[in-house]
Amino acid sequence: MSTTLVTGGTVVNATGTAQADVLVDGETIAAVLAPGSRLLGTDLKATVDQVVDATGRYVIPGGIDAHTHMQMPFGGTEASDTFETGTRAAAWGGTTSIIDFAIQRYGERVEDGLAAWHEKAAGQCAVDYGFHQIVGGVDEFSLKAMDSLVDEGITSFKLFMAYPGVFYSDDAQILRAMQKSRETGLLTMMHAENGPAIDVLAEQLYNAGKTTPFFHGIARAWQLEEEATHRAIMLADLTGAPLYVVHVSAKQAVEQLAAARDRGQNVFGETCPQYLYLSLEDQLGATSEEWGDLEGAKWVCSTPLRSRADGHQDAMWRALRTNDLQTVSTDHCPFCMKGQKDMGAGDFRAIPNGIGSIEHRVDLLYQGVVTGEITLSRWVELISTTPARMFGLYGRKGVVQPGADADLVVYDPAGHTSIGLGKSHHMNMDYSAWEGYEIDGHVDWVMSRGSVLVDESGYVGSKTHGKFLKRDLTQYLV
Ligand code: URP
Ligand code: ZN
Ligand code: ZN
Ligand code: ZN
Repeated sequence: MSTTLVTGGTVVNATGTAQADVLVDGETIAAVLAPGSRLLGTDLKATVDQVVDATGRYVIPGGIDAHTHMQMPFGGTEASDTFETGTRAAAWGGTTSIIDFAIQRYGERVEDGLAAWHEKAAGQCAVDYGFHQIVGGVDEFSLKAMDSLVDEGITSFKLFMAYPGVFYSDDAQILRAMQKSRETGLLTMMHAENGPAIDVLAEQLYNAGKTTPFFHGIARAWQLEEEATHRAIMLADLTGAPLYVVHVSAKQAVEQLAAARDRGQNVFGETCPQYLYLSLEDQLGATSEEWGDLEGAKWVCSTPLRSRADGHQDAMWRALRTNDLQTVSTDHCPFCMKGQKDMGAGDFRAIPNGIGSIEHRVDLLYQGVVTGEITLSRWVELISTTPARMFGLYGRKGVVQPGADADLVVYDPAGHTSIGLGKSHHMNMDYSAWEGYEIDGHVDWVMSRGSVLVDESGYVGSKTHGKFLKRDLTQYLV
């Protein structure tokens, strides 16, 4: 068991900041001490195995990305990051825990889907990992299987109001699954877009010759996100299920969430970096020399990037300030342009949906501190503390305090990070959705359960370090 002292930094928690030294013993934080403290008369610096000088830098709890899709079969292909490459990229970016989605489809057993996910991830992860369960076929068998999820450490499941014929649940299925959510305490996560209506619009656009990635955004109109969000909220209210709406991008959907929260409902919302920064006009409508009007395929994801003219991006930042939205996850689901995204040349419906950002979430959110959109503590709350609370990890994760796992990031506010630029990221993608983004700030040093993953020499972790996180049930009052 080795000991580490992180000295001279500013420890930032969701509750505030303090100048403090952090003593790590083995896998956990042993003490958070006034700078230069002696312990039982001894000079700690002289007795620990390793001293990390964090002077002038922030010491924060490791990031928790609560929405990822490593090697997910989707859209006729498979997400290009494996658990190995995706969690390594996470570590590079200061994220030390992920929660990925195990998949069950119609006609398959939940138990088999979950077992398959354990098999993919075990021994392959640089950082700790938990699972949510996608229930893509709600029937008597999957409902019964949901009874044992809590014992497996899976305390949340995702339903889809989109993707008819793939993961889609109709209202009857949603109602039954939400009754199960109420009964078991499992959190219902919802992909809230009206899929059947989207499919009609998409077909009409395609038949009218409107086939480029831009029309992915047009077919998936904000009205269909607002409507589905409202429907999910009403079904949750009726059944008493706690509800977490994933990847919110429409300001009208935020209004639905805020109104439900004001009524006292246990309803929560997540957005993603792409909905804070990127837009229908600038990205989905982009063209390039290399890809022509297929360029926009790089940013095809669902819910879609929305119009900047309509102010959706500003509304997402505002909602993060006011706690109308509670978390920022990546929905990391990368695909390469060559051989994957280009399947949709001439038909936007065939572009695999997803963007890769796992490496950049901590940095991209830190820009909100730089611009004054959010405070330092809110930054830490959004990237680590609330996901820990929300998903049954708090105390172990999400906070720098004695007894917590030693998941620590030393973040340099005076540092600089250039994103994209050819191979300067570590995700398994042949492009970056964030090419050209210049970040004030830099992830300098990353530790997970007492093991250093990233230092000044680069990545020094191992793919067998990450452990499965059995998560607890949560009291949903965040
Ligand atoms: O486009 C997306 N979001 N791909 C991942 C699957 C999902 O719906 O989260
Ligand atoms: Zn989704
Ligand atoms: Zn997703
Ligand atoms: Zn630096």
